[in-house]
Amino acid sequence: MSVDSQATGTGLAFPPGFVWGAATAAFQIEGSTTVDGREPSVWDTFATRPGAIRGGDTGEPATDHYRRAGEDVELMRSLGLGAYRFSLAWPRIRPGGVPNVRGIAFYDRLVDSLLAAGIQPWATLYHWDLPQRLEDLGGWTSRDTAYRFAEYAETIVSVLGDRVASWSTLNEPWCAAMLGYAKGIHAPGRVSAGDAAAATHHLLLGHGLAMDVLRRDAPRVPAGITLNLYPVTADSDAPEDAEAARRVDGQQNRLFLDPVLRGDYPADVVADLAPFGFADVVRDGDEATIAAPVDWLGVNYYRGYRVAGSPRPGSSPAGAEWLGAADVHFVPDPAAPRTDSGWEVQPAGLTASLLQVHRDYRPVPLYVTENGASYPDELHDGEIADTDRVAFLDAHLRAAHDALAQGVDLRGYFYWSLLDNFEWAEGYAKRFGLVHVDYATQRRTPKRSAQWYSEVIARGALGA
Ligand code: NOJ
Repeated sequence: MSVDSQATGTGLAFPPGFVWGAATAAFQIEGSTTVDGREPSVWDTFATRPGAIRGGDTGEPATDHYRRAGEDVELMRSLGLGAYRFSLAWPRIRPGGVPNVRGIAFYDRLVDSLLAAGIQPWATLYHWDLPQRLEDLGGWTSRDTAYRFAEYAETIVSVLGDRVASWSTLNEPWCAAMLGYAKGIHAPGRVSAGDAAAATHHLLLGHGLAMDVLRRDAPRVPAGITLNLYPVTADSDAPEDAEAARRVDGQQNRLFLDPVLRGDYPADVVADLAPFGFADVVRDGDEATIAAPVDWLGVNYYRGYRVAGSPRPGSSPAGAEWLGAADVHFVPDPAAPRTDSGWEVQPAGLTASLLQVHRDYRPVPLYVTENGASYPDELHDGEIADTDRVAFLDAHLRAAHDALAQGVDLRGYFYWSLLDNFEWAEGYAKRFGLVHVDYATQRRTPKRSAQWYSEVIARGALGA
């Protein structure tokens, strides 16, 4: 039966076997940053820098998940989640180059309890918490970090191996490189275009090296990478706007998609990045390493960008988000609703991003590995009636279904996030969770959206 023909009767049905999940990341939820041999990550250090994180927030206590993992798995089971995407903390597992048995044991237990609850464990090796020791040696600007990453992968893959349902190497390398090394708003907080260019390549090299480890040590488990894609639209047909769109799409999307799915970096982007020394760090054979065939691609989607090559009414300059993009301006849509993060709600952009991969690259199963929204959720009489998040979810799942109906091989959807958590530079101020966390008591309260999502999962379909 085609996806189209299922769109009748009970509403919009998703294909059998569609993976329904929710996602988190280690530093954002775990807390317990100094226990059981965990060493500092770049985010622990960055959080001590005055003004770096809103409200002076840090990785403590986060959602105290390190001590409450059992309760959280129970919560997932009660929601009927089919899969849980989480990340493994490098500074717990291999701090300073030596495997740490106590840190590893935490993930060992987590994976076993997920399996016991009938929930697929989807593990990501890197969600931005680089050990500070490695940053002190150059961080991702150093080629050596890619090799240290592969060693760390070896340590944990050899333990968790095929108990994990699906392995991911990196989460959003664009953010780690550009926000961390060029814009300086994420750890390690460096402001250097050259450093960001080098970090981009070394992250991707690390991905390729880790893929080799996964193939060897977990040969039966599907493995992939998660990218944050943004559909980019030029504000007009004028050459300067088309050029702005090419540059942004190039650095945001194609710079990562092309080497992973096509085997080489896009020539126009390599030329854009030449002034920042990008080509100088790429060695013979690196592109072949990065092109190690992935079994799936994860797409994190939050919104798209409309860009212009000069200021427009209400537009804002792109700043250091893309290298050499001083002329690029974001053009807002005043009519679009916005989340609490100020991001425009653009469900059609999800369909557009999925279609971009589907049309421009070799066939590869896709998963929406993140999609979600922050809203200023408040508890009233013990309930959170987050109707805006329900509307967001409904619209984006319809957009995902649209992609399916257009032939995209979309296999699953993970809401970001299971729990309210540490939203990086925004600290605890932004709440993305299906489940509300009271940080003072660590009490978890499922929001109305959690109930709604749980019903969608049970039906495998959206209401008519
Ligand atoms: C992407 C990141 O992977 C995740 O860590 C973050 O919290 C969400 N987007 C929301 O910004």
